[in-house]
Amino acid sequence: MKLFDVYPINNIEIVKGQGSLVWDKNGQEYLDLYGGHAVISVGHTHPHYVNRLTDQLNKLGFYSNSIEIPLQIELAEKLGKVSGREDYQLFLISSGAEAIENALKLASFYNERKKIISFTGAFHGRTSLAVAVTNNPKLVAPVNENENVIFLPHNDEAALEKAFAESGNEICAVIIEGIQGVGGIKVASESFLQKIRSLCDQYNSVFIADSVQCGYGRSGKFYSQDYAGVDADIYTMAKGMGNGFPIAGISIAPKFKAWHYMLGTTFGGNHLACAAGLAVLEVMEQENLMQNAAEVGSYLLTELKKFDRIKEVRGRGLMIGIDLPDELSHVKKELLFKHHIFTGEAKPNVIRLLPALNLSKAHADRFLEAFSQELKAESLKQRATA
Ligand SMILES: Cc1ncc(COP(=O)(O)O)c(C=O)c1O
Repeated sequence: MKLFDVYPINNIEIVKGQGSLVWDKNGQEYLDLYGGHAVISVGHTHPHYVNRLTDQLNKLGFYSNSIEIPLQIELAEKLGKVSGREDYQLFLISSGAEAIENALKLASFYNERKKIISFTGAFHGRTSLAVAVTNNPKLVAPVNENENVIFLPHNDEAALEKAFAESGNEICAVIIEGIQGVGGIKVASESFLQKIRSLCDQYNSVFIADSVQCGYGRSGKFYSQDYAGVDADIYTMAKGMGNGFPIAGISIAPKFKAWHYMLGTTFGGNHLACAAGLAVLEVMEQENLMQNAAEVGSYLLTELKKFDRIKEVRGRGLMIGIDLPDELSHVKKELLFKHHIFTGEAKPNVIRLLPALNLSKAHADRFLEAFSQELKAESLKQRATA
């Protein structure tokens, strides 16, 4: 059997990782500022994480949600504390798209409505409803087309007010990433998030904060939407939650009441997944990772803003987008193959930095030096041809 060829891949095989470094099969070291798409939160093979998972695996790896799993309660309590939402409720699943599906389903059970507001540039996953609220028609198969989804311009308060004025009593939910990831690191403005909160309150619609990529401390706050000083009704989370182990969750406001079989999953909340989730939160607390993300992130943002050839630098904490002009579109490849630095990307020319939350300043400097060399090389090339 062959693999179904859906991913354009780099010709590199990574066999080992430690912290923010990874090594390929030839022993070449790379600086990892991509984290396998914002997944590595406490660093590769963090000793506490490895020990916690190994211990759990030696005891019991999996059992389903038909028995008591005290690890789930421990995880819910810790997550409530670290996220500052101790009165919220946790439902555990295994991927980001699954978190989105369940958040939207829960919202619809709650107010018995169907219409969802999403925004230009939004990415919420690839399963049926998640892809329907994703603003990329190329990803939507005919069976996923959904006439209940309304796309509005991002950060446009007037358009949002108009949509609510026209059909507010039909709006089930508004879903928004605090910082758009796939959309190119676009930060939702604080006043836009506040407007969503007040309109959802007014019309009894559900505010869903998609924190799958921008959450879990990456922005320097637990949820990036926290910068706006408002609470969402449901937070979705995944990627950094298990540092590579597939675990996801939705954090649900107290006003939502559960009933048996309302939501469900086979794998979600299993013993090994909970051990991974707990290990991540423990490291985040012990090593003050949110503070580190805020500090090293703001250092990177400040330094990057000094380069005059960049179109724009956007982001918060360790979720940074470097928007490059066309003539610098090759820089991402040079960073990988010449300087051995992994970064992410967004179309057309945005370099995305999504490193582990314990990225050191020295590693940030290593990136800045390589980046500066590439920009200088391009300037020299342009002067020679002028
Ligand atoms: C903001 C956001 N929501 C949802 C998802 C879907 O997550 P998953 O790929 O785990 O299904 C992603 C994935 O990139 C994402 O960035």
